[in-house]
Amino acid sequence: MKNHIICLLALMGVICTGCGRPNIIDENIANAEVQLSALLAASQQDGQIRIPSTYRDGKVRFVPKHDWVSGFFAGSLWYMYELTGDEKWAEAAQQHTEHLHDIQYLTWHHDVGFMVYDSYGNGRRLKGLVQYDTVIVNTAKSLATRFRPEAGVLQSWPADKGWQAQRGWKCPVIIDNMMNLELLFKASEISGDDTFKNIAISHSDKTILHHYRDDYSTWHVVDYDHETGAIRGKCTAQGAADDSAWARGQAWGLYGYTLAYRFTKDERYLQQAQHVVEFIFSHPNLPEDLVPYWDYNAPEIPNTPRDVSSAAIAASALYELYDMTKNKEYKALADTIIESLSSPAYRAEQGTNGGFILMHSVGSIPHNSSIDVPLNYADYYFLEALVRKRNIENGGSAVPM
Ligand code: GLY
Repeated sequence: MKNHIICLLALMGVICTGCGRPNIIDENIANAEVQLSALLAASQQDGQIRIPSTYRDGKVRFVPKHDWVSGFFAGSLWYMYELTGDEKWAEAAQQHTEHLHDIQYLTWHHDVGFMVYDSYGNGRRLKGLVQYDTVIVNTAKSLATRFRPEAGVLQSWPADKGWQAQRGWKCPVIIDNMMNLELLFKASEISGDDTFKNIAISHSDKTILHHYRDDYSTWHVVDYDHETGAIRGKCTAQGAADDSAWARGQAWGLYGYTLAYRFTKDERYLQQAQHVVEFIFSHPNLPEDLVPYWDYNAPEIPNTPRDVSSAAIAASALYELYDMTKNKEYKALADTIIESLSSPAYRAEQGTNGGFILMHSVGSIPHNSSIDVPLNYADYYFLEALVRKRNIENGGSAVPM
């Protein structure tokens, strides 16, 4: 990790002091205003609200409400409001958020935490919309139906639907599920009902125990027997191999344990996040610009796509981790990622990329889906990282509660 930091701090010094370039946050906000204005227009054509997810073959692609990525565009609009203070973004964000109203009752997959926290959660925080409390608590109730007490975890995916049904799983849990806990923790704060928080703690503890390897890389999928709690198998769905380190999974774990520490102040979660940082940023296959290949063990490295979404998620988590620990290395790493993602190598030219901000993310190579394209969650975590960076640099908390 040290080599990366020393060399990149030097690089940043040259960039920041040498050329009088405008503040990187302001410059990114101005760019995002242009890009997301175009994407917003595309998502509201014919008076209908549609949810943009990516841009492929010259077309913006949209997803239905139940898709796991459906909350990120509304969330990006909220961050645009936070970054600019312009009410036009809040109005659009509110419309896109409330379009997801029915998701609070969805129980057949775990991603409702992402979907509702990024949209309703940000709206509640930024605008004090108390009517969103009910939606957040209802969503937590829906997510809690997926808790399997014998195993002590939330089941991520259904075992009898779609491609997952082919895998022979009984209770598949993916590392990504750590992200859905944010909504559970918040729902307990709002409602005073600790049931949600206790589920989140149980899930976090089991995930440390069963998802993590000795080197603090994580398996993607752990299949539990929900009747006995026994582990039936460990494998991947989106990584290069069962025992590889799928890049976004490592980033989800880093972010997930950072947020678990935010809500619980349990030192074990902080340590877990710090171990994951060590794994990621000392990995020999991590490029100097800190934007990982889609899997740290992809056999085709360096001739295989990067995954910008993983870098953006990690940057956002690192700003919070810096705020918690005051370890300057974490902020230096996050700043380097933001520098990289703001460069023409990853940030689209204005008026291109369908209005998405960033290029070069990977959805799932094993599923041949969304490879080397913009993804709405890469933009979401990039904007979130900018908010957190600005908060810290202005002397505030990275993540105001
Ligand atoms: N949660 C799904 C993914 O990260 O691709």
